[in-house]
Amino acid sequence: MPLERSRAFAPGRVNLIGEHTDYNQGLALPFAIGPGVTVCAATWPPGSPGEQRVSVYARDLDERDEFPLTEPAPAPGWRAFARGTVGELTRAGFPLVGARLQITGELALGAGLSSSAALEVALCLVLSELGSRACPDRARTATRLDVARLCARVENEWVGAQTGLLDQLASLYGAPDTALRIDFRTLDIEPVPLRLGDWRLVLLDSGERHVHASSGYNERRDECAQACRRLGVESLREARAEAIAGLPEPLRRRALHVFEENQRVIEAVCALRADDLETIGRLLNASHRSLRDNYEVSTPAVEDAADRLLGAGASGARLIGGGFGGNVLGLFGPGVQLPAGAYEVRPGAGAHLLES
Ligand code: GLA
Repeated sequence: MPLERSRAFAPGRVNLIGEHTDYNQGLALPFAIGPGVTVCAATWPPGSPGEQRVSVYARDLDERDEFPLTEPAPAPGWRAFARGTVGELTRAGFPLVGARLQITGELALGAGLSSSAALEVALCLVLSELGSRACPDRARTATRLDVARLCARVENEWVGAQTGLLDQLASLYGAPDTALRIDFRTLDIEPVPLRLGDWRLVLLDSGERHVHASSGYNERRDECAQACRRLGVESLREARAEAIAGLPEPLRRRALHVFEENQRVIEAVCALRADDLETIGRLLNASHRSLRDNYEVSTPAVEDAADRLLGAGASGARLIGGGFGGNVLGLFGPGVQLPAGAYEVRPGAGAHLLES
């Protein structure tokens, strides 16, 4: 077999609004950002003893892994991602070949910018591409939705975080100057123009890092499932306000957050279509208060970052992603000076293969 190469990039994401709604069949409005993860892959030289193995070099961590192509064993930390992607692609019937992989990234880990999904998506694109080049007669095509679902299985079953599809869909479907209105009940994805004009969306790092597999994330998901059982509904998308009011604490506040956050996504889409960024600022603040007081996923470091953004004149600020640390998003009107450490983010292109 001749030496084959492939290379893919997958971006991180910022969720404008609609947090902790994805696994409740709700609504969200994320966009892909410029920074992301790049994975380069090459097959082994012909006749090399490693041909049925996968070796991985995580350049930013300067750490390595190596495992058999068939039936890779689970492993903790970053090693779960390549092993899980190989395992899930094989299970889904994609032809794979032994490969040498190198991972480089621009996203801080556990910072709420979806470094995990970017890594899974880039690995999935690169490994499936390499496999179809090496075995064209067995090549399979996958839709972006198939890729997102496969990556979510890596996250759920190999990494141990019961996350939804938000991050993978944002990374795969992102486009410049566009936010994505995602309906997680139907999986309809509608592009919504994100025209900022002289306004700026910025990130400020709280400095605190999270790991969803061990933060309160899985517990929140379980609380939502408990609320559904008590309400007799399949998902919180179906829950009615009057029924939510009768739930015991803390389930009432968890379900109330999801209910109101879905409404905020609908309002945010209308505001974007009307170029009404003042309203977006107000919605960001309302979302943050609910994530802090009802969903209880904020921390003192996150509150401090949000206060610094608002203190500098942001029209709105909120924690993004799963919470328990990470970055805070701020929206600044024209001419307002950004606080120290804040940097601008813009909606960018979704995941793609690169020239190899
Ligand atoms: C993390 C998860 C997503 C989503 C968000 C919260 O980013 O990976 O699936 O649940 O938290 O909105």
